[in-house]
Amino acid sequence: MKMEKTGQAEIHINDQTLVCPVYEGTEGEKAVDVSRLRKETGLITYDPGFGNTGSCASDITFIDGEKGILRYRGYDVADLAARCEFIEVAYLLVHGSLPTLAQRENYATLLNSHSMIHEDMREFFSNYPEHSHPMAILSAMAVSLSSFYPELRGDLKEDVDMTVARLISKLRTIAAFSYKKSIGEPAVYPRHDLKYCENFLNMMFSSPVRGEPINPVMADALNKLLIIHADHEQNCSTSVVRAVGSSGINLYASIAAGICALWGPKHGGANQHVIEMLEDIRREGGDVDKVLERAKNPRSPFRLIGFGHRVYKSYDPRAKIAKELCKKVIAATHTKDPLMDIAQELEEKALADSYFQERNLYPNVDFYTGLTYREMGIPTNMFTVMFAIGRLPGWIAQWLEMQNDSDARIARPRQIYTGPNLRKVAPIAKRK
Ligand code: SDX
Repeated sequence: MKMEKTGQAEIHINDQTLVCPVYEGTEGEKAVDVSRLRKETGLITYDPGFGNTGSCASDITFIDGEKGILRYRGYDVADLAARCEFIEVAYLLVHGSLPTLAQRENYATLLNSHSMIHEDMREFFSNYPEHSHPMAILSAMAVSLSSFYPELRGDLKEDVDMTVARLISKLRTIAAFSYKKSIGEPAVYPRHDLKYCENFLNMMFSSPVRGEPINPVMADALNKLLIIHADHEQNCSTSVVRAVGSSGINLYASIAAGICALWGPKHGGANQHVIEMLEDIRREGGDVDKVLERAKNPRSPFRLIGFGHRVYKSYDPRAKIAKELCKKVIAATHTKDPLMDIAQELEEKALADSYFQERNLYPNVDFYTGLTYREMGIPTNMFTVMFAIGRLPGWIAQWLEMQNDSDARIARPRQIYTGPNLRKVAPIAKRK
């Protein structure tokens, strides 16, 4: 990790001065190293939600939120989405460079050879209640993989490659199986002759008795959607994967925790909630202005789902790609989705509204991806699962990077205690 000391900053506390190194990354991002602050002054930093905290240095993903730039290992996300297969991007994130043709073929073979899940694991699906959320099943299955498959030993490259392949290949199978379970159909097994995205669509939409032709527009859309989700530096779920991994636990358990974090409606779960919000608007007569007023009301907990971002203060580059994909899929299916019209009206009016302008609130990745998945025939409660399949290589790459980072320590923030001072326990009969 190329982080250079380029200066120093002074922190003055009463008559004490602490000189802290200033580090700079390869894109000019600067950070003050406050790691000696508590030891030397007794003070800690207070930064709720870690908005100003650099928890690590990383070679993987660069975001410029002001300019709307997103790059994986130096490649622009739009360039990758236009030219690569998802498994190439997975390889890039995990290995650091794009694969050659031979390396991509070997990787595809490796993934195919690990696409099945243990038959005993398949039995698990039958024991979940019918309306279980697929994210609950996905996280439980991810951690269960650690019981069925040997743990990764970080010192052996083959072990690392195999564990990574298992996760990337098997979680896709698990996702499709959980959908089949939810509609009461038998699972469709993965096929060695299909590519990663085609294989997923086949497992989702074919049945053991009837093959369903795979629409190349859908396969291409899925490929691009997975690529735009593949990593996003230290977001909530990735920070969770790193935090859980920092305790020394295995990759499967760390990924399961990341899946749970992603499920939240303020994070990846927003792609499902966008559709629910658009459906509510349609049911209530299509009054977009009413929804915008609710979102702007500081006394209402409601926020415009799919809008706003901690890092992007301009249009999320992924939302641009997703919007175009959505239009392409709609054209290919010859449908007219009224929710797309509502979404576009909502976007137009929000971007023209001073509340959203002053706060730099733009559509984020989740605004148009849900609509695209919907057009592809993927059910709403599977949208966040799709996000998780895409994000998996990023989580893995970040976890592996942390394992090799000599500065990494167990994640353990401090706090400012604001509860009662010391008090005595009264006998139970005397307590009020
Ligand atoms: C993802 O971090 C990542 O990288 C995540 C992600 C990834 O790839 O991993 O990009 C994926 O999680 C996308 C975000 C999905 N979530 C949503 O779409 C839910 C709706 N969005 C908001 O809840 C919100 O914008 C967040 C959670 C995304 C960000 O929260 P922040 O950083 O705490 O918001 P902020 O401090 O920048 O907000 C500033 C102001 C506040 O108003 P004031 O107190 O200044 O008056 O903007 C307001 C907020 O109330 N605001 C919104 C709003 N988002 C922020 N007002 C109305 N609608 C919104 N959506």
